Amino acid sequence: MAPTKTVAPKEPALVRLWDWLTETQIWKSIFRHGKPTNDRNRVVVMLSNVFLHLHPVRIRKSGVKLRYTWCMGGMSFFLFLVLTFTGLLLMFYYRPTLEYAYTDIVGLREHVPLGIMREMHRWGAHAMVITVWLHMFRVFMTGSYKPPREFNWVVGVVLLVLTLLLSFTGYLLPWDQLALWAITVGTNMVGSAPLLGEPNRFVLVGGYQVGQAALIRFYTLHVIGLPLLAAVFMMVHFWRIRRDGGLARPL
Ligand code: HEM
Repeated sequence: MAPTKTVAPKEPALVRLWDWLTETQIWKSIFRHGKPTNDRNRVVVMLSNVFLHLHPVRIRKSGVKLRYTWCMGGMSFFLFLVLTFTGLLLMFYYRPTLEYAYTDIVGLREHVPLGIMREMHRWGAHAMVITVWLHMFRVFMTGSYKPPREFNWVVGVVLLVLTLLLSFTGYLLPWDQLALWAITVGTNMVGSAPLLGEPNRFVLVGGYQVGQAALIRFYTLHVIGLPLLAAVFMMVHFWRIRRDGGLARPL
């Protein structure tokens, strides 16, 4: 009887392409580790990636249970990314001048393809304010602010203030009646603070009345100053979780 020939099963094309890609010099010059198939490589992956190295290398399952974290910090970060992306697209269209601001927003709602970005931006902003508060509530209820995490709680408070300021500065940009009077009331509240209230209001509004100077100031703060600050503080927040020994966990 003739011997039966055993033919090795052919690997799928995608697997072969992947194997080829990960052997090229370009790939190896970017990623200096093997595939994350064993513990050592997984650690090296985490430590040698600029984004991943902010996170802990090991975490305990009990500390990341949805029931425990509610993933509200993660949701806040996700919404921040959505807002950055949709906001960037809005910047291609919206002009922060008294002449165009309102009509550009109406245009975005009614005529422009992808005008849905404006709605996503607005709803996303409301959602982020809610998720950040819920995240803070969860951290408080689980006692995760206690040592060694008290500094990260303070970083969190800064992030909360920045989130609220982003929301506040964005409110003026549609330049409708709601925006105008909400910001007039808000900045008047700043003005009524003792000692430095009035000078602070003057700097914020760029004059005695909410007008073009206020619009451009709020716009610049909204699209550059505050998001940059928030991104820096978020990096510190995530890195700090790692330095504090990962997330707190149930006892
Ligand atoms: C833009 C706002 C914020 C973002 C994107 C954010 C993001 C995160 C993420 C992703 C985590 C990991 C655990 C989780 O998802 O629950 C976390 C943990 C933590 N956050 Fe925030 N956070 C924000 C605001 C705050 C605020 C307002 C506070 C409190 C004032 C706070 C205090 C903390 C603390 C103490 C931890 C460590 C908790 C633990 O070890 O279990 N964060 N944050």
